[in-house]
Amino acid sequence: MNINQYKDIVQKTLEDYFKECKEKSEYEKTIWDAMSYTVLLPGKKLRAVFCLETARALCGKWEQALAAACAIEMLHAQSLIHDDLPCMDNDDLRRGKPSNHKVFGEAIAVLAGDALISFGAQTILDKTPAYVGNEALLKVLRLYLKSAGAFGIVAGQCADMEAEKKSGQIDSMHLKYIHAYKTAALFECAILSGAFLAGANEYEINLMKELSMNFGLAFQIYDDILDVISTTDELGKTAGKDEKEGKATYVTLFGLQKAKEKFNELISNCYDILKKAEIESGVYDCILNKMRERVK
Ligand code: IPE
Ligand code: IPE
Ligand code: MG
Ligand code: MG
Ligand code: MG
Repeated sequence: MNINQYKDIVQKTLEDYFKECKEKSEYEKTIWDAMSYTVLLPGKKLRAVFCLETARALCGKWEQALAAACAIEMLHAQSLIHDDLPCMDNDDLRRGKPSNHKVFGEAIAVLAGDALISFGAQTILDKTPAYVGNEALLKVLRLYLKSAGAFGIVAGQCADMEAEKKSGQIDSMHLKYIHAYKTAALFECAILSGAFLAGANEYEINLMKELSMNFGLAFQIYDDILDVISTTDELGKTAGKDEKEGKATYVTLFGLQKAKEKFNELISNCYDILKKAEIESGVYDCILNKMRERVK
């Protein structure tokens, strides 16, 4: 499978999940519209692709990871919906379209985010094929719940808001903490879920943890670099937002050049880890190469 094939199957599966639920709903149809709106907008679906490709690379099959991959995209969309709220990053544009709260209002956007977290967890339980054992299923569910909350994204977003209160004047430990939790935690959820569902051994799991952390940190630095060097049109979200909001980023703290160097170092680590894990993946290579090219 290539990236586009994975993306298409994830998109189609998500559409089906939402359609089924919306049909059964009564006075709450709006919530399904709001939930599916952000999830189905054309994002890169990177976390789902990593989840599926990791399962494929470790056991030859990706199908048993499809429900988890879709759930992780729901959780990701939730983090974006809440991240864009006026009380957080206050962003009107997401994936090239008005942010969730701009279309549905703040109250529904908050509810849609809440509902996506639990719908994701339900999806893992209801839609993962029965031949996947309960042990793997519980590991995936536990990690999903951990990543969603105060041991994951919420911790990172809270540390991010604390940094904003200090007008972005924080030390590198605090910055790494923000990146590890607000961003790497969800990549870890995606990559490790794929590994758990593939029945990976402890050695492989440890390498996948390392991969997740290196990629997650690289990805947030990449996002912070793009915020500075790209246009709103290219990004599909408001460019130049981090400095304006007084965000702490690798770029605001250390400058663009250092940020690019750190990004390249972390991406090189990813290649090394994939090699060590004996993972041959055109999908991983393609994603890493594309990111490198874009911030050259
Ligand atoms: C945006 O993630 C949020 C960050 C962690 C920086 P993506 O850049 O993967 O967003 P989509 O899914 O493509 O919209
Ligand atoms: C992304 O941080 C973290 C989450 C959404 C959880 P950003 O605030 O930099 O993400 P964008 O730039 O709005 O996508
Ligand atoms: Mg943010
Ligand atoms: Mg933001
Ligand atoms: Mg950003």
